[in-house]
Amino acid sequence: MNKKIIYSGIQPTGIITIGNFIGAISNWLKMQDDYDCIFGIADLHALTVRQVPAEYRKRALSFFAQYIACGLDPEKSILYFQSHVAEHAELQWILNCFTYIGEMQRMTQFKDKAAKHADNINMGLLDYPVLMAADILLYQTSLVPVGIDQKQHLEITRDIAVRFNNLYSPTFTVPEAYIGERGAKIYSLREPGQKMSKSDPDPNAAVSIIEDADVIMKKFMSAVTDSDTVVRYDPENKPGVSNLMVIMSEMGGLGIQEIERLYGDKGYAVFKRACGEAVVERLKPIKAEYDRLMSDKDYLMAVARDGAERARRLARRTLNKVKRKVGLVEQ
Ligand code: TRP
Repeated sequence: MNKKIIYSGIQPTGIITIGNFIGAISNWLKMQDDYDCIFGIADLHALTVRQVPAEYRKRALSFFAQYIACGLDPEKSILYFQSHVAEHAELQWILNCFTYIGEMQRMTQFKDKAAKHADNINMGLLDYPVLMAADILLYQTSLVPVGIDQKQHLEITRDIAVRFNNLYSPTFTVPEAYIGERGAKIYSLREPGQKMSKSDPDPNAAVSIIEDADVIMKKFMSAVTDSDTVVRYDPENKPGVSNLMVIMSEMGGLGIQEIERLYGDKGYAVFKRACGEAVVERLKPIKAEYDRLMSDKDYLMAVARDGAERARRLARRTLNKVKRKVGLVEQ
């Protein structure tokens, strides 16, 4: 392995949205040839909030299948479940001993989640960033594609890595944020001022990549726009319409100006329908592949086992090094 390593994780909660697809996954597809990519289903992370076990198991498997259906290729990249590689939790423990409680209490996501789940401020919630640091550092990751909400977690990962390297000797690669080429940001269909969220309580705010065609059409037809009638790209004054234009452009391959030319004066209903149809068309092969994968659990689990095995081999190398450096007796 001498290509740079990219690591990304996703919590199997909510839905994988067209926003995730446009902003992240479609960039990863292109990166698979230039980097050694590792994509983990962060199923330990999401235990920090209560999950319904049967649903959770199903959703994690579904996320895994959706990744593959999108074109993340188990031949090129490592795709696996975080919980299948025990080294994550093991490194987390050691890193815990190099992380200060104050640092964790200052994390904005911890403060937000603690406020939201006031009845369940568990240790995992506080320790979440250290597990994320373990995810990243185990694989000698150079680059982590992160959105703005995860930047602080990447910063603390770097701090922990540098701290450990300085105390002992160079052990971890210090990772950097990977800023994708474009990665258009997609907004909620109901509140175009807000990012499209994978866990929005309003089901009409986001579109899943495996949604049925008629549901997709309904969501686009009811997308919030404005009281004007012109289809024009103007994110400041026409955030709803502009968001739909970006979605249509990214999913259908038309340029923004082309969309203006084609739909500028056709009225919103015609434009919204065309936008929905472009999304349905683009997602059709993904949905078909997803359905096929979900009906072949044996294959999916074989991919997961293989991914975990490859991940484990890499993780062990780092973990053994760490154990030696901190003075644990070698086996
Ligand atoms: N915390 C990330 C999120 O909620 C998910 C995640 C877990 C992750 N481990 C990671 C992202 C490692 C990047 C690298 O989005």
